[in-house]
Amino acid sequence: MSKSRDDYTAANRAAWEASAPYHEEGAEFASLLAGFAEPGFSCLDGILTERLEALRVAGKDVAQLCCNNGREILSVKNLGAGRCVGFDQSAAFLAQARRLAAAGGIDCDFVEGDVYKIPAGYDGAFDIVLITIGVFGWMPDLGAFFAVVDRLLKPGGALLVYEDHPIMNMFEPGAADPHKPVHSYFEAGPIEEQGAIVYDGTPNLPGATQYWFVHKLSDLLSVALDRGLALEHFREYPHNISSVEFDVYNDQPAQLPVSYVLVARKGA
Ligand SMILES: C[S@@+](CC[C@H](N)C(=O)[O-])C[C@H]1O[C@@H](n2cnc3c(N)ncnc32)[C@H](O)[C@@H]1O
Repeated sequence: MSKSRDDYTAANRAAWEASAPYHEEGAEFASLLAGFAEPGFSCLDGILTERLEALRVAGKDVAQLCCNNGREILSVKNLGAGRCVGFDQSAAFLAQARRLAAAGGIDCDFVEGDVYKIPAGYDGAFDIVLITIGVFGWMPDLGAFFAVVDRLLKPGGALLVYEDHPIMNMFEPGAADPHKPVHSYFEAGPIEEQGAIVYDGTPNLPGATQYWFVHKLSDLLSVALDRGLALEHFREYPHNISSVEFDVYNDQPAQLPVSYVLVARKGA
């Protein structure tokens, strides 16, 4: 019998929970703790910062879906945003987020739960909904995910996405020839994987079973348009924003699109 959305979500929650200690023990988390202790610290790169500024983030209410350890929504708050809320279903990662917030005395709420079940009390509460780096692939149902984005946005609010380009799902960075496509762009998944989810390339750490879903760029655009969101900005970039093993795709003579930014606006 095939799994339900709740089954996939529960499996992925267990996999992220099991992976959380590796992240909290790593050098990256220590550097974030030190960083957020400084006033105004931001881990955001120039591209995301510029897009947030173009959306006039100062004073705006911002939600980040699947915020993980909260480093990005805390940075958004430090850019001068108004109410900031990070949503994620991993209690262990949200505990890390609260540690980072406490390090800098940053006023940001973190809400634990399945993104598909965010309480109606948050409907229409946000000027900007932020989604970054490795979120869509965890979503068994992209249409339902965009329905949540839509209901969280205020009229006239904007969805801001900074994500891995789905073409990268065709490649295996650890393969003998990492530049040879090995998966169809049109493969839907789910792809079942085992082991800890880490960003620093450490191989074979023990972890749980997880499920990855491949959403094409056209799937993403279709669900956004189906919700009535108006595409306002779209750029593809040649640089990796994901795990370090994908750095092998940077600076190539035949350059792939490795990441992208999208802004789509809800009607006023
Ligand atoms: C790759 S991480 C996001 C990383 C973050 N953008 C960053 O760069 O720090 C993906 C997150 O999605 C969360 N997640 C996956 N499925 C979810 C669901 N159904 N509801 C809520 N959170 C979910 C995981 O717990 C994980 O923290």
